[in-house]
Amino acid sequence: MTDISRENSAIRERWQTCLRLARELLLVGPDDKDLKLGYLHTLIDTGDLGPTRHPRKKILVIGAGVTGLVAGRLLKDAGHDVTVLEANAGRVGGRIKTFRATKHHQPFADPAQYAEAGAMRLPDFHPLVLALVDKLGLGRRQFYNVDVDPSTGSGPDVPVPPVTYTSFTGRTWTHGDDSPDFREPDKRGNAWIRANRVQVRRADYTAGPERINEGFHLTDDEVRSPVVKMVDDALESVRDYYSDVVDGTRVNKPFDEWVEGWARVIRDFDGYSMGGFLRDHAGLSDEAIEAVGTLENMSSRLHLSFFHSFLSRSDINSTVRYWEIPGGSWRLPHALHQGLRDEVRLGHRMIRLEYHDPSRDAGPEGTGAVGPDGRGVAVQTVAEDDPQAPPRLWTADLAIVTVPFSALRFVEIVPSMSYKKRRAVIETHYDQATKVLLEFSHRWWEFTEDDWRGELENIAPGLHAYYRLGADADAEPRITLPEPEAGLLGAAVKDSGVTEEMRRLDRTMPLRGPAVRPATHCFGGGSAADNPNRFMYYPSHRVEGSTGGVVLASYCWSDDAARWDSLRDAERYVYALRNLQAVHGRRVEVFFTGRGATQSWARDPYAFGEAALYTAHQMTSFHLDVSRPEGPVHFAGEHTSLKHAWIEGALESAVRAAVAVHRAPPVTTPGQDREEYSS
Ligand code: FAD
Ligand code: ARG
Repeated sequence: MTDISRENSAIRERWQTCLRLARELLLVGPDDKDLKLGYLHTLIDTGDLGPTRHPRKKILVIGAGVTGLVAGRLLKDAGHDVTVLEANAGRVGGRIKTFRATKHHQPFADPAQYAEAGAMRLPDFHPLVLALVDKLGLGRRQFYNVDVDPSTGSGPDVPVPPVTYTSFTGRTWTHGDDSPDFREPDKRGNAWIRANRVQVRRADYTAGPERINEGFHLTDDEVRSPVVKMVDDALESVRDYYSDVVDGTRVNKPFDEWVEGWARVIRDFDGYSMGGFLRDHAGLSDEAIEAVGTLENMSSRLHLSFFHSFLSRSDINSTVRYWEIPGGSWRLPHALHQGLRDEVRLGHRMIRLEYHDPSRDAGPEGTGAVGPDGRGVAVQTVAEDDPQAPPRLWTADLAIVTVPFSALRFVEIVPSMSYKKRRAVIETHYDQATKVLLEFSHRWWEFTEDDWRGELENIAPGLHAYYRLGADADAEPRITLPEPEAGLLGAAVKDSGVTEEMRRLDRTMPLRGPAVRPATHCFGGGSAADNPNRFMYYPSHRVEGSTGGVVLASYCWSDDAARWDSLRDAERYVYALRNLQAVHGRRVEVFFTGRGATQSWARDPYAFGEAALYTAHQMTSFHLDVSRPEGPVHFAGEHTSLKHAWIEGALESAVRAAVAVHRAPPVTTPGQDREEYSS
């Protein structure tokens, strides 16, 4: 082969990879069918995996996160003999986890309070998860990514609208009844943006971004542009690849051009990091990128692939409607678990996976010889809650492995998997995410200044003026605190959980910012700051029967998260409170119950990270091999989809793998091990 023809064939091969990735991203299946419609039909409309020539197989599902639970339920209902092995001895749900009062543990002072350690918001355009929530009767209500005016909107008595999905085939799928009276509340934008010591409300930043932008040393046109617009403008040329602007709105190009357009986006941009794209392709100044990074939660993602941020800009932004599950996201895996009580085996961590793959040449390790008749899959587990217990062996015809690749990295696999799969397990980038949640006895973020006055005067006459005049000055009027020796931390809270260690840390840390800032008066939504908390979210709804609430004082990703991971829990709470005070005024301290909860996903022994988020080139290097079965072993989970870090991606993968396993013969013979999903 000449150099030129070699080069041409490499270009052709790369184009084929990009085309296949585009189809996977857009869920275009064989015969150009919409796979999403098939998934919705299977999971929501029927719960039925359809006909198979191979009924009643023995199937192991590894991991009882939402993927394992959904795949397990579908396969059990189809008549298979299913066992779900879950490492965690205490709960199912994986990265869907709610801090809440249980028989053994009460994280917050008020047992009615709860807060999310992992997944918290479900976007309107994720129909599988929304319809599943509805089908299981869990109820849903809006999650406000931007704070709202609670006196507007149709209120809680009007039913939520149905779940709809409009396919590229032109078909619209609907689940639920019409709710013509449903109205969203108006967005308000009272939450804060604070950077470079300048603080403004979100709505004011949109109307006049100059003060904040000057803090980032922006000049010329950039200083007058809100960062959201800078990013959106930068992405327009990429959107032109697959869509056109018609009467001011984006409309996808005709089917073939649309798919090819996405393939060209992948070809041209998968090698970029988001930072590299903004700098080299879009021509933003370094300072503009710093502003975008800080305010749009991108500084933690600038080094990750362009694609991750490009896709998630349509997932997380101020125009999208989100939903949440009342009572906590944990209710979703809990409801799925109800139908699998006998099948889910908690506390069994897979440490070794052996499989027989007759479609491969017997290499040095052979093809694997497992199970009583030397076929199928054998999984060895250790008991998480009983170190003395001997390892156990579980055998089956087929397996679905749903554990994150970051966790699979520590499992011995025999024979070793195909080359690209091994690379994916070794290299898939997992991001970090850390949350620090603080409980308050009163919802001070909802207060007006009059509310502040009333509540502070209730604690001690003169306290409102005391804060206003400066707590450090020898201020008049003098106040008499109910428990003067305890100081003002938790002063409004009867029997507060503020510990001596917290008080000591609090005393030794310098205060940043004044005692009083304007009342936030926020219902839902969140503030952004360049202090270590970075992103703060206020609860979208009150917890019935409770005067207080839990604030997500810090939700960080990547390097921002790693900083918190170095601190002990008590330190995290005090620092998180300090940084919350910097934005909301020192006086919020009186309502701190001394109780908090914190979750570092990178330190979680079952997740080993937040979610799979590719770095530049990873998608084209190995994504197509991620979900490819290895003989009788199938793969599912958030990381096998192209909706990384979303439940929706986990669900797509669960249905895909369940259908494949349902249709697969119990003994895999060469060329017979895979049937593409089409429906
Ligand atoms: P997992 O939930 O990780 O399930 C894998 C299971 O395997 C776990 O139960 C684990 O314990 C088990 N396991 C691991 N190792 C072993 C082993 N060796 N043997 C046996 N079992 C093992 N999604 C949204 O839709 N909305 C959000 O707002 C959202 N926010 C998020 C915020 C954070 C901080 C995080 C971490 C995730 C968020 N997500 C969100 C993503 C969502 O939670 C995940 O995509 C989804 O829960 C992944 O499900 P899974 O079943 O693929 O993986
Ligand atoms: N689904 C997640 C959320 O709502 C998105 C996480 C993206 N993570 C990241 N490190 N960029 O928060």
